[in-house]
Amino acid sequence: MNKWSLLGSATIPNDGGELKLSQRGDEFSIRLSGIRGELMNSRVHGSEEALATIGCSRLKSVGSAQVLVGGMGMGFTLAAALQSVSATARVTVAELIPEVIEWNHGPLGDCADRPLDDARSRVFVGDVAELLEKSESEYDAILLDVDNGPEGLTQTENQWLYSEAGLKAIFRALRPRGSLAVWSAGPDRLFLNRLKKARFNASVRSVRARPGKGSHHTIFLGHKA
Ligand SMILES: C[S@@+](CC[C@H](N)C(=O)[O-])C[C@H]1O[C@@H](n2cnc3c(N)ncnc32)[C@H](O)[C@@H]1O
Repeated sequence: MNKWSLLGSATIPNDGGELKLSQRGDEFSIRLSGIRGELMNSRVHGSEEALATIGCSRLKSVGSAQVLVGGMGMGFTLAAALQSVSATARVTVAELIPEVIEWNHGPLGDCADRPLDDARSRVFVGDVAELLEKSESEYDAILLDVDNGPEGLTQTENQWLYSEAGLKAIFRALRPRGSLAVWSAGPDRLFLNRLKKARFNASVRSVRARPGKGSHHTIFLGHKA
């Protein structure tokens, strides 16, 4: 079996540790330093794609739809969002760590068929919370996969996104009839209640990590009625 080779590393802001990109044959892995383990593996992306297909399910026929994706990772959610929207849509991906964008222009690009090369893609390098805080009625869909979900945070800085204040800001950032979809490693009843409190028409979907198999992950869906 091939050995893993390290392709690059990046510092996570606010003492968040280090992110490491490795390759073994045609498989890629992004790991968090210390005991926090693997953040992503290129062989497992069913639920990252489901996040986009579920969150953008109403957008195929919407001209000039605006979509915001929180977290580039290996580009699976961005690629699936691009497939779910029309030719005149725009999909902005916000990514905290500049190196992750560089890796997607380089070795990671082929994982999801180079979604950054799509003319409808835009990149914001920075915290997705920054965009959300200053937006009003701007997006038809917001897709968040920046952490392990509302309960299993790997970066405490992301807490605001899942809080009542964060959800109210996200509600404001959405256009009427817009949708929020949030990836999570598992269910979280308190988060579902917070979505409802922030005026979302909220529901939960269970999806598989690989087509028809693998672990179960959760997608929280909130519609702005
Ligand atoms: C699990 S990965 C996303 C995987 C992605 N859905 C895919 O399809 O490959 C999480 C990504 O979110 C980024 N991230 C974490 N916190 C963020 C934040 N507050 N704003 C923007 N990006 C963030 C991480 O650097 C990482 O690239």
